[in-house]
Amino acid sequence: AHEIRNPLAAIRYSAQLLAESRTMDSTDQRMVEIINNHCIRLNEIIENILQLSRRERSRPETLDLGHWVQDFVAEYSQGNDLGVDSLRAIATGTVAMAALADPQQLQQVVWNLVQNALRYGRLPGEPARVMVVARQGEHGVPILEVIDRGPGIVPKVAAQIFEPFYTTHEYGTGLGLYLARQMSEANQAALEYVRVAGGGSCFRLTLTPAQMRKRTGEDDINE
Ligand SMILES: Nc1ncnc2c1ncn2[C@@H]1O[C@H](COP(=O)(O)OP(=O)(O)OP(=O)(O)O)[C@@H](O)[C@H]1O
Ligand SMILES: [Mg+2]
Repeated sequence: AHEIRNPLAAIRYSAQLLAESRTMDSTDQRMVEIINNHCIRLNEIIENILQLSRRERSRPETLDLGHWVQDFVAEYSQGNDLGVDSLRAIATGTVAMAALADPQQLQQVVWNLVQNALRYGRLPGEPARVMVVARQGEHGVPILEVIDRGPGIVPKVAAQIFEPFYTTHEYGTGLGLYLARQMSEANQAALEYVRVAGGGSCFRLTLTPAQMRKRTGEDDINE
């Protein structure tokens, strides 16, 4: 990786020195800025690819999704300044939702989805309202959803969002969703985009159920 990182660092360093030169007019300054921004972007791409290539085997654990989403939102809100935006955890249903997944990888997947929701899932001039939902799908399958109330994604774009390097953001790498899906698959989970009626996006993660302890029948009242 150093073969790519070192020359990139050299370019960035030179650009920084250039930026400090006083003889530059504003057009030149702007160009140095462009060099710098694209170096940052390239660096992010490299980081992401490295993450993929050294992808560790997942270590699945039994997780209670209801608690997991609460913890995730609490942690995310602590580490990131949400400003006027809101991020809420919602756990529906009365039964504990046990899913089998690597907690660290799950965290990375949902972190990416929330990051996107806060960035793209807003209407102009309005704060973003993002929900992380844990619920039970058909046959008790555990489902995790990241839902925003933004403009949604038109079908033509939605068809490409999971492709590597597809981005509509000036400084995006376009690897976020690609990596999220790869990592989901490594956890026997499926990640898909679902349209939200009335506008907004939903990224749905369908997880692998974990065997609950002592669930022998409907009459079983053990908890
Ligand atoms: N919640 C969302 N609402 C609307 N569009 C979205 C949403 N999430 C993703 N997208 C679209 O999907 C594209 C691809 O997303 P992805 O996370 O893969 O890359 P990125 O966000 O552009 O770059 P990076 O993740 O490196 O910052 C985005 O550029 C955006 O156009
Ligand atoms: Mg992204």
